Amino acid sequence: MMPYTPEEVRNAVEAGPITEEYRADAKRVVEQLNRLRATEIASYLQYKQHAYTAVSLLSSALKSEFAAHAEIELQHADILGERIQQLGGMPVYSPTEIARKADEEGVRAEQGATLAEMVTENLMLERRQVAAYTALLREIADSDPTTARMLGAILAETEKHAAELADYLKRTTEPSR
Ligand SMILES: [Fe+2]
Ligand SMILES: [Fe+2]
Repeated sequence: MMPYTPEEVRNAVEAGPITEEYRADAKRVVEQLNRLRATEIASYLQYKQHAYTAVSLLSSALKSEFAAHAEIELQHADILGERIQQLGGMPVYSPTEIARKADEEGVRAEQGATLAEMVTENLMLERRQVAAYTALLREIADSDPTTARMLGAILAETEKHAAELADYLKRTTEPSR
């Protein structure tokens, strides 16, 4: 015989991992995570598009770099989707919703005409994500430590991408004076 009342069991099933010690607003966290997920999907599409376009022999290294980044963006979208589900939310999946949420974060998949333009677009997108992840991480660091750790892991990879892209532009762009 279980020492729990039917109501306790019902509540536990309803709440899943969220206990009375969870101090964040799960609904708000889910909404923020879905916005980040939308930017990751836009980022995936942008990197893939750039990988398709960067076909010349000269840019084969960049092509595989774009493709590798694209895979990581999809992983980020996945990690966020899993966490959203754990928190009782619905991972965003409708293309129109994804476009709207990404747009609210200032992210739109872009297709530059030159490699330098593409790298710049990627750098700008990564930097927007760095800012958004950092802000949310700071907000929920104590109230939702699991989500915060997850954000920290994605943030580290996002900063790495931004640094790589900035380094590429430093190496390849002529000083303008
Ligand atoms: Fe990402
Ligand atoms: Fe990235």
